[in-house]
Amino acid sequence: MADKLIIFDTTLRDGEQSPGASMTKDEKLRIARQLERLKVDVIEAGFAASSNGDFEAVHTIANAIKDSTICSLSRANDRDIARAAEALQGAASARIHTFIATSALHMEKKLRMTPEQVLEQAIQAVRFARNLVGDIEFSAEDGSRSDPDFLCRVIEAVIAEGATTINVPDTVGYAVPELYGNFIKNLRERVPNSDKAIWSVHCHNDLGMAVANSLAGVKIGGARQVECTINGLGERAGNCSLEEVVMAVKTRRDYYGLDVGIDTRHILAASRMVSQTTGFVVQPNKAVVGANAFAHASGIHQDGVLKARDTYEIMRAEDVGWSANKIVLGKLSGRNAFKQRLQELGVQLESETDVNNAFAKFKELADRKSEIFDEDILALVSDESVTSEKEQFGFVSLSQHSETGERPQAAIVFTVDGKEVRSQADGNGPVDASLKAIESHVQSGAEMVLYSVNAISGSTESQGEVTVRLQNSGRVVNGVGSDPDIVVASAKAYLSALNKLQSKADRVAAQG
Ligand code: KIV
Ligand code: ZN
Repeated sequence: MADKLIIFDTTLRDGEQSPGASMTKDEKLRIARQLERLKVDVIEAGFAASSNGDFEAVHTIANAIKDSTICSLSRANDRDIARAAEALQGAASARIHTFIATSALHMEKKLRMTPEQVLEQAIQAVRFARNLVGDIEFSAEDGSRSDPDFLCRVIEAVIAEGATTINVPDTVGYAVPELYGNFIKNLRERVPNSDKAIWSVHCHNDLGMAVANSLAGVKIGGARQVECTINGLGERAGNCSLEEVVMAVKTRRDYYGLDVGIDTRHILAASRMVSQTTGFVVQPNKAVVGANAFAHASGIHQDGVLKARDTYEIMRAEDVGWSANKIVLGKLSGRNAFKQRLQELGVQLESETDVNNAFAKFKELADRKSEIFDEDILALVSDESVTSEKEQFGFVSLSQHSETGERPQAAIVFTVDGKEVRSQADGNGPVDASLKAIESHVQSGAEMVLYSVNAISGSTESQGEVTVRLQNSGRVVNGVGSDPDIVVASAKAYLSALNKLQSKADRVAAQG
C-alpha cells in the first residue's frame, strides 16, 4: 500500500491572515464544512489566543466538524496553548499547533532571545501542550533559513517531549525546490528520533514556488504532510495551493506514489466559496480552478480533444467539480429542489430560517433572470442577508439616474441596526453616487483601496459580483455583493465591507 500524504488546510488561519480576507464566524464554519466534505485531514481553524472572535470560531468549528482533525495555532507559551486547548474542547479529534522562530535573524531581531532560550521555550511549550492534547504539531518558524545544527537540536528535543508532527516552514517564500527538499531530507536523517513524528512542509509563495517547494519537501525530503490553502490564499503572495498540490500528487501518482484522501469533486465549490467569501478573485488562468483551466481555445487543441481527450487534457474537469455550465434551476423550482441543489454544491446552511431566506432570494433572482447557474446559487448563499448572523448594515433598495452629459444621482434605502435610513448623493458615475450616498450617512471615514466587478457566469445577463476593499485605522476588509444590477451589487458590497469593518473593530475591542 502506498504512503498517505496528509492534507492540512490552513485557509481559515494563514489564509485569513491575508489583508482583507478576514471572515466572520459563520463564514468560517461554512468553509470548514466544505473542507470536511473535501475530506481534508486537518483543518487549522484559527489562532484561538489571538482574539475572542478567533477563539469562538475555533470552538464552533471544533464542535461542528466530525470527520477532520481540528487544529488551533498557538505561540509557544502556556497562555496561548491553554487557550487553544480550551477552544478545541468538544472536538472529535483535536490538534494544538505551537510554533517559535528558529532562524538566527528571527531569534535575534524579532524575539530578542538566545538560541538556548528558544530551545528551552520550545521544550516547555510542547511539554505543556502534551498534557492537554495528544496530537501536537511543532513548527520551527522561518525553518528554511535556520541553522540545520540548531534545528536538529530543537526538533530532537520537541519530539522527545511528545510532538507528533514536525513542520519546517518556508515562512518568507525564500526556498527553492531542490535545496528545500534536501534540507528536509538532511534533517530527517540527522535527527535520531525523526521516525517518531510525521514531517510536514509549509511553503509561502513569494517567488511563485510554494507548490514546487512543497512537492520537493515530499518527494526528496520525505515529508508526509503538506500545509496549504484553497486558491493559495495567504499573506503576501499566498500559501501553497491545496488544489494544485493535491492534483499534482493525484495526476502524477506514477511519480509521487502517494495516496491523498481528498474528494477532489468538491474542489471547485470550495474554491468558489473561498473566493466569494473573501473577495479574492481567482485569476482565469489559475491551475485547476481558473475559468480557463479546462478551456481549449486553439483549433488544434479543440480538434485533438474531440478525437481523444488525453491528447491535451491531463485531468478530467469533472474530477475537480467542473460540470457543463448547466442551468440548474428556474422560476418554477420548488424549495426541495433548491435545498437538494444546495446539498450537491456542498452548501449547508445553519438553520431552516437561513434556508428560507436563501430560497426567497432565489425566487427573487429567478423572477429577474431566467437561467440560474450553480455560480448564481453560490453567490446568493454567500450574501450575508441570507444568514441569520446579525449585521449592522443591510441593503433595502436603490434608485439611480444617469444620462449622458448629466451628473449621475443615486438614492438608497438601507438599514442600520434594523432601522431604515434614506440617503442620496451624486457622483462621477452611478456606482460612485450610490456609495457616496451610503458614506454620507454612515461617515465611516474608510478609504476604498480596491473596487472590482466580475460577471459571475460570463455574459451580460449574468449577475455582477463586486468586491470592495476598505481600509480604516489599520484594518483592511473586503466586502462582496452580487446582483444582476451592478450598481446594486456595488452598494451591497460596500455595506458588507462596512459590516466587516465593524465586526473587526468589535473583535479588536474585545481583546482589550
Ligand atoms: O509561515 C509560517 O511560518 C507559519 C507558521 C506559524 C507555521 O505560518
Ligand atoms: Zn505561514
